Amino acid sequence: METEDILNIIRKGKGKAEIISILEDIQEKYTYLPEEALRLVAVETGCSLTDVCGVATFYKAFSLKPRGKHCVSACLGTACHVRGAETVVAEFKRQLDLEPGETTPDNEISFETVNCLGACALGPIVVSDGHYHANVTKRGVKDIIEATRAGTLGSIGGSKDRGFSFEASCPRCGRSLMDIAYPIDGHPSIRINVVTSAGTGWMRLPSHYGSFVKVLEHVVSEDALLTPLCPHCGSDLQGDFDCLECNAPMGTMNVDGGAGIIRICSRKGCNGHMLTLNGATI
Ligand code: FES
Repeated sequence: METEDILNIIRKGKGKAEIISILEDIQEKYTYLPEEALRLVAVETGCSLTDVCGVATFYKAFSLKPRGKHCVSACLGTACHVRGAETVVAEFKRQLDLEPGETTPDNEISFETVNCLGACALGPIVVSDGHYHANVTKRGVKDIIEATRAGTLGSIGGSKDRGFSFEASCPRCGRSLMDIAYPIDGHPSIRINVVTSAGTGWMRLPSHYGSFVKVLEHVVSEDALLTPLCPHCGSDLQGDFDCLECNAPMGTMNVDGGAGIIRICSRKGCNGHMLTLNGATI
């Protein structure tokens, strides 16, 4: 651990109020919070070492032990528990030959259990390297481990387990927006209409979370803003949120079966999106 690197991270923060983000940055660099780093944070921010350690041990996301290259978290919250999460966790333990909180001997995978990942309706939920896996079963554990080790979780059009599928409907008239006749990435697409400089035409979106292609009837530039419309009732689907990545307005659709909302950036070339399930944004 380079003391100067830690000091640079701390000095980027703004003091006591930034302790959590300072610790996040240190953990991102070292995969855990070394003791020496905690001491430096205390000295540089003027907080007591007890307070800094209190923050580091309060949040389960922080680790005081080195973590593996990949991180797998299995939810054991109530909703996931009643859907069989214990069996899923037992299978991870068996296949990885470790207990929650431990890392495989080759330092490849750290495995932990958590209480709720905010996608209860789709449980059991497992998150590997930031990718959500829904409705995980004992049989799906092997695929998740293999894809995590191989680093193939985020490839567009890749493994069926890199995300989860959902069905979208119009938030105004409630009718389905799914189009089984035009699949994208092997899943039915979501079909809406969009107003562009070339006129009004259709746009199809993937229904598999983690895939971001936008297929349009008309050719438009990547910078073009698209006004989304329901193909059934003609309602403007533009919501009250702006994209966190490019500030363009976001189109809003309901996610069926999970009390959810999906927001997609209306700029053609932007992948900005937000999925909110049961009040939690993932
Ligand atoms: S209980 Fe598992 S995601 Fe909420």
